[in-house]
Amino acid sequence: LSAAERAAVRALWTKLGSNVGVYATEALERTFLAFPTTKTYFPHLDLTPGSAQVKAHGQKVADALTRAVAHLDDLPTALWALSDLHVRQLRVDPVNFKLLGHCLLVTLARHYPGDFSPAMHASLEKFLSHVISALATSYG
Ligand code: HEM
Repeated sequence: LSAAERAAVRALWTKLGSNVGVYATEALERTFLAFPTTKTYFPHLDLTPGSAQVKAHGQKVADALTRAVAHLDDLPTALWALSDLHVRQLRVDPVNFKLLGHCLLVTLARHYPGDFSPAMHASLEKFLSHVISALATSYG
């Protein structure tokens, strides 16, 4: 990411503040609805809308994304353990990362329409694609 793209992502994240978990939860709910095959990875969780388990999971995803924003220079190292978990233990097909990334983007655009200039959109696409490739590093 260029300096301007990093600044855009960091600025939006600052604005999100403690609401990152709320939006990550909405993104998860959208993913499960729009792309139902993603639900097959969570047979052990209650995925009904408003579920406390999805909310708890959304907070974990949010914390990982916030960690990523803080480590834009070295995402593969920052997300290595998470990559290992998703690839080797959970065996998540990497196409699913893009589906969640898409739903994160839609969620943020919906809640922050005024911030969502084409440049912001492009910066977030780039950020999410870097997060996704860092998560996929363990596929070797
Ligand atoms: C668990 C982050 C995408 C399936 C987790 C955890 C985090 C996380 C932080 C908790 C790890 C822990 O408890 O130590 C992310 C991020 C993603 C992503 C940042 C992409 C932006 C996905 C996708 C799927 C998935 C696309 C499948 C469709 C799972 C499963 C668990 C998990 C099944 C374990 C849930 C449980 O049993 O509690 N993820 N994840 N993840 N993730 Fe992801």
